[in-house]
Amino acid sequence: MNKAKRKVVIAGNWKMNFTPSEATAFINEVKPLVAGKNGCEVVFCAPYVTIAAAQAAAQGSNISIGAENVHFAEKGAYTGEVSAKMLTECGVKYVIIGHSERRQYFGETDATVNARTKAALEAGMTVILCLGEVKEQRLSGITREIVSMQTKLDLEGVTAEQMKNVIIAYEPVWAIGTGLTATPEQADETCGQIRDALAEIYGRDVAEATTIQYGGSMNEKNAAELLAKPNVDGGLIGGASLVAEKFKAIVDAAQ
Ligand code: PGA
Repeated sequence: MNKAKRKVVIAGNWKMNFTPSEATAFINEVKPLVAGKNGCEVVFCAPYVTIAAAQAAAQGSNISIGAENVHFAEKGAYTGEVSAKMLTECGVKYVIIGHSERRQYFGETDATVNARTKAALEAGMTVILCLGEVKEQRLSGITREIVSMQTKLDLEGVTAEQMKNVIIAYEPVWAIGTGLTATPEQADETCGQIRDALAEIYGRDVAEATTIQYGGSMNEKNAAELLAKPNVDGGLIGGASLVAEKFKAIVDAAQ
């Protein structure tokens, strides 16, 4: 299988942005701009309280609304958390897990990322699993080791069959929200290294079938070059997913 056969996914990560009314207005603005763009799946991952409003606005369009995190337990004494069953009952299919901001600010580890991933997959959700190196690791020349280790730890116990519902987002931490972007060559090389790690675990066929996005200051200017690379199958977009025209340009670049 080659790139042409893999699913291309352009996903916005709204982070802690957009109230329900702001999300409604934004979806209404972006909906006509991405209508009929069938060369990729279009997803926006929203804060929990904003999901319902975004879904209502997106109804009947080619836009799916996802969540930004999910807990690993089915239910119980986990104040402030949300389970996969709660999300699926709300019609949420996609969920981001392991975003570097969760790892940096909220104590998320590869073990909790793995537990959340398994819970989401068991509930039938599609996981956008984020991983990537920090600046010091890239400068030390150990990026391959880091992303390979994260891939293996984060997917421990995930079956080859379940991998059909896993999208990996390669997000170099130094490029997130910084305006610094990996060069297309760096993005392609590291997505390829993640694919190699997948091949070690699941074999080449599964590795070649898995969608691997790039994320980290992807925008309307650099998207086309990044998305043209053989190992880059889409994008996870933060800042530029909050501006309809910028996001539209990225979706256009994925056609
Ligand atoms: P950014 O965020 O596009 O603002 O760098 C990407 C992400 O955090 O997923």
